[in-house]
Amino acid sequence: MAKHRICRIPGDGIGHDVMEAATIVVEALGLDLEWVDADAGWCMWEKHGNTVPEATWKALESTKCCLFGAITSKPGVKGFKSAILQIRQRFDMYINLRPMKSYEGNPLNFRNPKGENPPIDMVIFRENTEGLYSAVEFHPTPEAMFEMHPGMERFKGRDVAVSCRVFTRDGCRRIVEAAFKYAKEHGRKKVTAVHKANVIRLTCGMFLEEFREVAKQYPDIETTEENVDAVTMWFVKNPDFYDVLVTTNMFGDIISDEAAQLVGGLGFAASANMGDRYALFEPSHGSAPKYAGMYKVNPTAMIKCIPLMCDYIGEKEEARAVEAAIARVVKEGKVRTYDLGGSNTTLEVGQAIADAL
Ligand code: NAI
Ligand code: MG
Repeated sequence: MAKHRICRIPGDGIGHDVMEAATIVVEALGLDLEWVDADAGWCMWEKHGNTVPEATWKALESTKCCLFGAITSKPGVKGFKSAILQIRQRFDMYINLRPMKSYEGNPLNFRNPKGENPPIDMVIFRENTEGLYSAVEFHPTPEAMFEMHPGMERFKGRDVAVSCRVFTRDGCRRIVEAAFKYAKEHGRKKVTAVHKANVIRLTCGMFLEEFREVAKQYPDIETTEENVDAVTMWFVKNPDFYDVLVTTNMFGDIISDEAAQLVGGLGFAASANMGDRYALFEPSHGSAPKYAGMYKVNPTAMIKCIPLMCDYIGEKEEARAVEAAIARVVKEGKVRTYDLGGSNTTLEVGQAIADAL
């Protein structure tokens, strides 16, 4: 049996295009690896009425981790459940890690008012299972709720909807621990907690308490605490200030999209969903149906999942090699997809990165 069994799920639309390019790069690494192919998403909903069929669960369960392309979701379809949400929940993948690195020579890099491209190299840890995305909502709001808290009194008698921001202490703890552990293992200097504790006192307060507790175990790592609104401003002023950031679910969702845009947008945004027993690596973009099968889109976001995966399975050399190859191809600028002003295909970019290994 191969050393690494990896589940490979292209999904829908351009998920197939970018997965094919990523496969070229993985094959070129020559790892002792066996693919376990499966599928999920809209294609499976149409075929089986289930976005994650049983065979796919089996494939996931039998592997160390998964490379995932992109899927199509359509709102308002009765009974439809997003494949990626189901997989994240079943494996309790509470970490959403997003590396944001500017590659030299990328024409889409952030430019400051002086016209410079400050080097950006940040990693965002977003809590992935609770907070404002816990799906605990009320509408209409039960009468009892108006009696539960004095702050609710002024809303009485009106049409009220409430979304709960649910935090657990161990939920806060484990995402903060993951961020510090990563910082230490990767020689990072600083961890920033992103919060809004001056207004959302109890939930952000608990998050900061855990942040400070965990920080004590890492005396060599500098820490800062910043309000989320300030962070969104600093990102477009001094993005090179940041190193590792850790934050809660919705704040993480917002700041990671902003950060992605600083380093080239959707074509460069990769993410790792990780729990204690499984991990899934996917680009942040969707299935872009209008480009499906045209081999036009940028596979770099998908290919950036490979170093994340290699790091996870303990192949650190390979992780570094793929990062370096991506950097080389971007810098040379000879092979580029349309988003970078080029006319190369998805697979040509994959091949160029494989050749640069
Ligand atoms: P999208 O990310 O699929 O595409 C939006 C636009 O961004 C594309 O039309 C294209 O112009 C550009 N783009 C995306 N990926 C690119 C790449 N690799 N290279 C160059 N340009 C790229 O978002 P959209 O159109 O809002 O959603 C399409 C479908 O994808 C929907 O069904 C949506 O629900 C789903 N989706 C799935 C996600 C996932 O699989 N995690 C995330 C976001 C959307
Ligand atoms: Mg998002």
